[in-house]
Amino acid sequence: MKLATALTLFLVLRFVLTNGIKSTTKHYIVYLGKHSHPNLDSVILANHEMLAAVTGSVDGAQHAAVQHYSKNFRGFSAMLTPEQAEQLEKNESVVSVFESRTNPVHTTHSWDFLGVDSVNQYNKLMRTDYKSDVIVGVIDTGVWPESQSFNDKGLGPAPKRFKGECVVGEQLTSAHCNRKLIGARFYSKGFEAENGPLESFNKTFIRSARDTDGHGSHTASTVAGSVVTNVSLFGIATGTARGGAPNARLAIYKACWFNLCSDADLLLAFDDATNDGVDIISLSVGPLPPQPSFFSDAISIGSFHAFSKGIFVSASAGNSGLPSTAANVAPWIFTVAASSVDRDFTSNVHLGNSKMLKGSSLNPLTMDKQYGIIAATTAAAPGVSPQNASFCKINTLDQTLIKGKIVVCTTETVLDNRQDKSIVVKQGGGVGMILIDPIAKDVGFQFVIPATLIGQKEALELQAYLTTDKNPVAIIYPTTTVLNTKPAPTMAVFSSMGPNVINPDIIKPDITAPGVNILAAWSPLATEEAAERSVDFNIISGTSMSCPHVSAIAAIIKSCHPSWSPSAIKSAIMTTATVIDNNDTLISRDPFGSQTTPFDYGSGHVNPAAALDPGLVYDFNTQDIIEFLCSNGAGLAEFKNLTGEPLTCKNHTTPSYNLNYPSVGIGNMNGTVTAIRTVTYYGKGPTVYLSYVESPEGVKIGVIPHRLRFKKAGQKKTFKIKFTPYKNSNGSFVFGSLTWRNGIQSVRSPIGLNVVSV
Ligand SMILES: *[C@@H]1O[C@H](CO)[C@@H](O)[C@H](O)[C@H]1NC(C)=O
Ligand SMILES: *[C@@H]1O[C@H](CO)[C@@H](O)[C@H](O)[C@H]1NC(C)=O
Ligand SMILES: *[C@@H]1O[C@H](CO)[C@@H](O)[C@H](O)[C@H]1NC(C)=O
Ligand SMILES: *[C@@H]1O[C@H](CO)[C@@H](O)[C@H](O)[C@H]1NC(C)=O
Ligand SMILES: *[C@@H]1O[C@H](CO)[C@@H](O)[C@H](O)[C@H]1NC(C)=O
Ligand SMILES: *[C@@H]1O[C@H](CO)[C@@H](O)[C@H](O)[C@H]1NC(C)=O
Ligand SMILES: *[C@@H]1O[C@H](CO)[C@@H](O)[C@H](O)[C@H]1NC(C)=O
Ligand SMILES: *[C@@H]1O[C@H](CO)[C@@H](O)[C@H](O)[C@H]1NC(C)=O
Ligand SMILES: *[C@@H]1O[C@H](CO)[C@@H](O)[C@H](O)[C@H]1NC(C)=O
Repeated sequence: MKLATALTLFLVLRFVLTNGIKSTTKHYIVYLGKHSHPNLDSVILANHEMLAAVTGSVDGAQHAAVQHYSKNFRGFSAMLTPEQAEQLEKNESVVSVFESRTNPVHTTHSWDFLGVDSVNQYNKLMRTDYKSDVIVGVIDTGVWPESQSFNDKGLGPAPKRFKGECVVGEQLTSAHCNRKLIGARFYSKGFEAENGPLESFNKTFIRSARDTDGHGSHTASTVAGSVVTNVSLFGIATGTARGGAPNARLAIYKACWFNLCSDADLLLAFDDATNDGVDIISLSVGPLPPQPSFFSDAISIGSFHAFSKGIFVSASAGNSGLPSTAANVAPWIFTVAASSVDRDFTSNVHLGNSKMLKGSSLNPLTMDKQYGIIAATTAAAPGVSPQNASFCKINTLDQTLIKGKIVVCTTETVLDNRQDKSIVVKQGGGVGMILIDPIAKDVGFQFVIPATLIGQKEALELQAYLTTDKNPVAIIYPTTTVLNTKPAPTMAVFSSMGPNVINPDIIKPDITAPGVNILAAWSPLATEEAAERSVDFNIISGTSMSCPHVSAIAAIIKSCHPSWSPSAIKSAIMTTATVIDNNDTLISRDPFGSQTTPFDYGSGHVNPAAALDPGLVYDFNTQDIIEFLCSNGAGLAEFKNLTGEPLTCKNHTTPSYNLNYPSVGIGNMNGTVTAIRTVTYYGKGPTVYLSYVESPEGVKIGVIPHRLRFKKAGQKKTFKIKFTPYKNSNGSFVFGSLTWRNGIQSVRSPIGLNVVSV
């Protein structure tokens, strides 16, 4: 993150100089009210005219304009001074003006990983003969079209309703699209306006939807990659790679460059995807925490337009790992946390005293023999403290001491670039690295030399050996894959947590899915993330990886139930999720197995087979969202930013905890509160559901009625949940759940309450 920020600042300056724009300009998105223009050219002409009024000339307007929006809403983006932006905002045909910013993709930064074909594990449970006309739009870093994951064997022609196209660019022609990759667009103007020309980054890129970062190919193939047998990362995690919905179609929207994405480009990608006719949008990108509001970031805004048109949007919760850091928390977005699967990748260390230390790593490299071990603390370069040397950063190690040795390093902070340490050791002549890294040991990394991560217990054993043996030696073994590990899933150490900082009445994240050590397609040009090796499949971790798993599950549900709304699909996935791991205990959190709450995983871990037949569904639509926002004090200005229309609220709004969401949160409970929910029966034939409640500490719960009788599908029933607190929750949340059961289905909603007063 630090590096990206530095680059951004530096290059904005450079852009400013080369373009002769005043250094005070920023990139703004300008929403225009409804006005009819027959085609894009006339929209552009009108936008330029309006801009000319503030820039002083048509020429200046053309220079300032960056993007033009013409489909789901009208508007443009431009480089403007704050004064010019303010002036534009005063024009009666302008609805609102807001600044565009750059967002990171949600892969764990520089955490390169070891993995699992986790999608397989649940595909076994499901039929694979479902129809293949679901279209998933992936907004990311593009695609590597030659990857076997994108072959279109066995697929029929693209669905006729798809209006997208395969936009020709550098090294990408319309021939690169096929019946799997049915569309490919790319956007760079917003990014370049904010960060400078792509050329100035001194990194590999291609001006087309072709992926040079790897991230976009990975996420797209996780959603809907075709079946490819016998793939691995240098023999690790060998197996069949395939997306969760291998029959779905992919429309690619490349809006990210060097793993960074401009708001203005993201908004245009949303606009196009929504208009092209995709059913699902998968977005592994988000603002850095804390997310400011629903009314000022492109993802909230673009996804709102998509939701209004019936498109399901799933987005990653982020990799910040701490409470209150979850991003993409709007209720119209499906917010995905990340968890492990039941495989480990061990790369053990065999010490000269014949003790074996358990290590974990993505290490395909074989050591030919034992080598001497040296602690980096005892190999400090002149003038460097032992502690500073222990982090194995550049220019801190004495090369004469580490030459030919295995070096023991430690991490300074969780954000350390672990791969860089292996590069430092290698450049100093070291032959291996043992990294003491108790926090991140569950996440696989790739290194340029044989290297592995060990925990605290192993570190103590190693320490003892180093202090007692005059000539300590060891060998680091290449990775072996261990299956059926317990407990699994566990919450990933990096997965961002709730509560929802914008509105704690909506529990976020919504769900968790596999996001640790995921094997999927890669761009062979993206070598930085793969320890400088060119690979066609790579193993990486992040909520970026869990989000496309959920997009795939949504695609499967959509193909089985084409008429279901985005919120019905969300409800189906949430109410069927599980909070129990494969050791029959509550899902725990890495690295130390700590206790979890819905702020780790929302409703729990996805259970795709159950999600196809949820029984009851909690549905809500755009009007419900508007009322929800009204009850949170949204007014004209907020709606202008979000919808591009000046909406006003009715005088009497229902409290926001009454949004018909599949989980129940009350962020500020003062005395007894009664929440209302409505369920729609999606099963067959008459049935009766009974309510079961797990009460949060200090709160009594009554469900009225506690029995729901349905005669046929489509019937709706409304019920009340009465919360009577008898204990203050002392500034934090207390948790419970409500489950409706009919003997077949179990429809579970987590409950999170903050009792401020009894
Ligand atoms: C507002 O924009 C319109 C359309 O570009 C233009 O005709 C009009 O002169 C502008 N009004 C003001 C007050 O600048
Ligand atoms: C609209 O967006 C801008 C820019 O992001 C922000 O500064 C402003 O506060 C937003 N307006 C409202 C009412 O939220
Ligand atoms: C650009 O990258 C190349 C290769 O990585 C490097 O040798 C060169 O010094 C870099 N140039 C700048 C200006 O950073
Ligand atoms: C799988 O790939 C490996 C390496 O590419 C090859 O050696 C092996 O024979 C392949 N196995 C099968 C069953 O195709
Ligand atoms: C250790 O590193 C810190 C932070 O980089 C630096 O401020 C300090 O001077 C270093 N001390 C020694 C002895 O190298
Ligand atoms: C499985 O659960 C049992 C009982 O709760 C516990 O004692 C044991 O340590 C757990 N095993 C693992 C691998 O977590
Ligand atoms: C809402 O309240 C305003 C002022 O309090 C009043 O003028 C208006 O008529 C009310 N609207 C409705 C629909 O009740
Ligand atoms: C709870 O509500 C009562 C009555 O409206 C009010 O006096 C009290 O200050 C509230 N307590 C808190 C902690 O908000
Ligand atoms: C809040 O703190 C009080 C006093 O320490 C304690 O009695 C009570 O149990 C706490 N409530 C909860 C829900 O933990």
